[in-house]
Amino acid sequence: MTGTIRHYLRDDDLSPAELIEVLDLADLYKRNRTAARPLERKSVAVLFEKNSTRTRLSFEVGISQLGGQPIIVDGRTSQLGREETIEDTSRVLSRYVDAVAIRTFAQRRIDALASTSSVPVINALTDEFHPCQVLADLQTIRERLGRLAGVTLTYLGDGANNMAHSLMLGGANAGLHVRVSSPEGFVPDPQILLDAKTRAGLTGGSVELITDPVAAVSGADVLVTDTWTSMGQENDGLDRVGPFRPYQVNAGLLAHADSGAIVLHCLPAHRGWEITDEVIDGPASAVWDEAENRLHAQKALLVYLVEHSDPVHVPAGG
Ligand code: CP
Ligand code: NVA
Repeated sequence: MTGTIRHYLRDDDLSPAELIEVLDLADLYKRNRTAARPLERKSVAVLFEKNSTRTRLSFEVGISQLGGQPIIVDGRTSQLGREETIEDTSRVLSRYVDAVAIRTFAQRRIDALASTSSVPVINALTDEFHPCQVLADLQTIRERLGRLAGVTLTYLGDGANNMAHSLMLGGANAGLHVRVSSPEGFVPDPQILLDAKTRAGLTGGSVELITDPVAAVSGADVLVTDTWTSMGQENDGLDRVGPFRPYQVNAGLLAHADSGAIVLHCLPAHRGWEITDEVIDGPASAVWDEAENRLHAQKALLVYLVEHSDPVHVPAGG
């Protein structure tokens, strides 16, 4: 028997109204980091099958600030690294902890984890999505520009990666006009594009692919970029430099955006590749606020999911 369990595996797992509720809570936590301890006597496992700095630190600090116990697990040195199945791992974790966050490879791996979990599961990055990052991005956009609906956001770079997909889906969920500008061969997954367009249809947002980077940034309020080589793609045999050069976020490209435009990057940045020093260190950059907001947004998300879930613990022998 299971109760209602809310997972956050991709950006559209929150409705548009729920997204705003989470962002409002994130703003509250930003104003007062230790306002409440709703995770008192609860534990959260955070598993990493890929590297991390921000996600690991922000989850660990955030769970502690909420009164909970964070348990950080390096998947590569756990039994997951010796081929215990993700489903069996998940069944065991549900007996110990109150929520699980995981950074892993294919989305089907987190789907499998969630399918056997009786506690909320959070996507801390997969090959396909990075929805925690986009929560922080939306919080940053709203605090800098004062609004979300109707904002034009242009993502430049690898249109097939997790950030591109999550910005399309999460941006559409918030009513943004999302433009993705990427070289041929690096365009978004067609099904995710369709899902994002469907969500945009509900919120008044839009999602467009615009190959020409200058046209794509023209008049935009927010420019976003990300590494041209995501974790796991280091040896995929593709040229991940040449085709991307016209998509570098530099002062010349930024000049085509709105004069008050802000620039985001989830970090880590590869300075001189997808973004130049003059931009990331310049007045339009909001990347350090964006990184900070990971803490506030994830705290809000965790509390939202735990409070809206009703896990039924399996009785002994069940
Ligand atoms: N942006 C982000 O997820 O950073 P980490 O890889 O350092 O966690
Ligand atoms: N697209 C990047 C994001 C890193 C936070 C990657 O997956 O490596």
